Parts: sequence; C-alpha cells; structure tokens
Amino acid sequence: MADQGPHRVAIVGAGRLGRSAAALLAAAGVEARLLGRGASSAGATVVWLTVPDRAIAEAAADHQAAPVLLHASGATDLGPLGDHPHAGSLHPLMSFPGPELGLPVGPVPAAVAGRGEAPAVAQALAERMGWTPFSMNGDRRLYHAAAVMAGNFSAALLYAGGQLLTEAGVPPELARGLLLPLVLQGLGNAAVAPASAALTGPVARGDHAVMDAHRAALSERAPELLPAYAALCALSAALLRDLAHERDGKGPAGG
Ligand SMILES: NC(=O)c1ccc[n+]([C@@H]2O[C@H](COP(=O)([O-])OP(=O)(O)OC[C@H]3O[C@@H](n4cnc5c(N)ncnc54)[C@H](OP(=O)(O)O)[C@@H]3O)[C@@H](O)[C@H]2O)c1
Repeated sequence: MADQGPHRVAIVGAGRLGRSAAALLAAAGVEARLLGRGASSAGATVVWLTVPDRAIAEAAADHQAAPVLLHASGATDLGPLGDHPHAGSLHPLMSFPGPELGLPVGPVPAAVAGRGEAPAVAQALAERMGWTPFSMNGDRRLYHAAAVMAGNFSAALLYAGGQLLTEAGVPPELARGLLLPLVLQGLGNAAVAPASAALTGPVARGDHAVMDAHRAALSERAPELLPAYAALCALSAALLRDLAHERDGKGPAGG
C-alpha cells in the first residue's frame, strides 16, 4: 500500500536510538515527539518503540491504539507487538551511540518488515531520515547475528588490535587510529571481492611460522586474546577452503 504521509511520529524510549531518530526526523521537518514511560501517544499517526528488546511487549501494550506500531529491534519478530493489524519493524543496520556523540555520516541501510500499512510507513520514515530501506522478512535471529558478527565484532577486534599495538610499544592514544586505515581498506576489499582476494595475511599464505610466532607472543603478553586469535584463524581458513572447493566446482567444503 502506498504511504499516505505526512506523519506525526511518537518515538517511545528516549535512549541512544530514540534521541538520534528524533533529531534526524526533526531535521527532516517531520513532526516527532520523544516519549518516556506512561506518556500518551494520542494524535500520533505512527508509534515507533525504541525501547530495549525486553521492554517491547510492555511498551506495545500501552500503544495498541496507534494507527501504525513499529519497533526498532534487529533480533525481535513481530510477536511482542501483539495482534496489531499494522505492526512492523524499522531497524537501522547501524550503530547509534546517541546524538551527543554524533550521528552516522555515511549510508544507513534500514531493515523494514511488517503487515498492513507498517512496511510502507517504515519505508517512508527511513527515507525521510536519509536511510536506505530494504525488506527483511527472513529469520531475524540470523539477521541480527550477521549484524553482530560483522559490526560489533569488528569494533571489538579493533580494540583488541589496539591493545596489542600498545603492548608492542606504540603509544596507546595512537594505537587504534594507526590500525583504522588497514581495517577500513580490508573491509572495503571484503565488501566487493571474494575471500580469496580480500583475505590477505599469513592464513591466506599458509604461513605457519608467522602464526606460531604470533601465538608465542600472545601467550607471553596477551594470553586472554589467544582463543579469539585461534577461532579467527580457523574461520579465515574455512572461508578460504570453502571458496577453493566452490571454485573447483565441488560445492562448499564440509567440516
Ligand atoms: N543504539 C543502536 O545503535 C541501535 C541500532 C539499531 C537498533 N537499535 C534498537 O533500538 C532499541 C533501543 O536501543 P538503544 O540502544 O537506544 O537502547 P537504550 O539507549 O538503552 O535506550 C532505551 C530507552 O528506552 C527507555 N525505556 C525502557 N522501557 C521503556 C518503556 N516501557 N517505555 C518507555 N521508555 C522505555 C529507557 O529508559 P530507562 O533508561 O529509564 O530505562 C531508555 O531511555 C533496541 O530495540 C535496539 O535493538 C539500537
């Protein structure tokens, strides 16, 4: 169904995403109110719940009268929104630390799902905020695991790399910034190239002497990072192995 905007948006949950979305909608000239617990959303054409996942059902129960009811969770299906006929989700595939720390400057893909008018309204709101909406009607647990795997873990790895660079003697205030160009280039390569081209380094080269040296140094100076190092070596090797099998026309490698 075509979206009938303009909308009056009530954002329920004044946290990191809620405050960011309120700022983006206001900047786009969309009427948006930020509501806390127990506040009325009367008069809103759409209520967008930006509360923690565990609080969605409770907040949804308070706003069943909304013409369109959305949540912002990546991992949650429509169940906690009850049997609202226009229930849906608008989930930015992006990290929002809160407007005080800054709003994303690059593209923001946003997953849209729902029934009735919800998908069209979610799409329209996303577009007003400058986001790029896409339909996500599959398994939300896997969808969110993908976001955590690629997004949260790459940030965790940058912190871990910074820690190692500091152990190696680089001033801590420089460490992450020195690694960032390498990380960004590698991620940019990986976004467009097959793993065989984008994954460089000792795993791709099969250089076991270098990996042994890494493990020895980690054992001495940062043993808490050894399990992650081992798991990521195994993951990289498995990706390269699968790709080699597919290239040879044998399908993905087992095991
Ligand atoms: N931040 C992100 O990067 C991001 C990105 C994409 C999607 N999301 C999704 O957005 C949602 C919120 O995440 P967040 O990071 O913004 O969380 P957050 O910073 O913890 O903010 C949640 C806010 O909701 C409020 N709240 C809790 N229960 C409520 C209720 N029943 N009624 C009204 N307000 C209530 C909290 O108030 P109190 O502090 O008083 O409890 C808090 O202000 C989650 O579903 C998350 O998956 C977040």
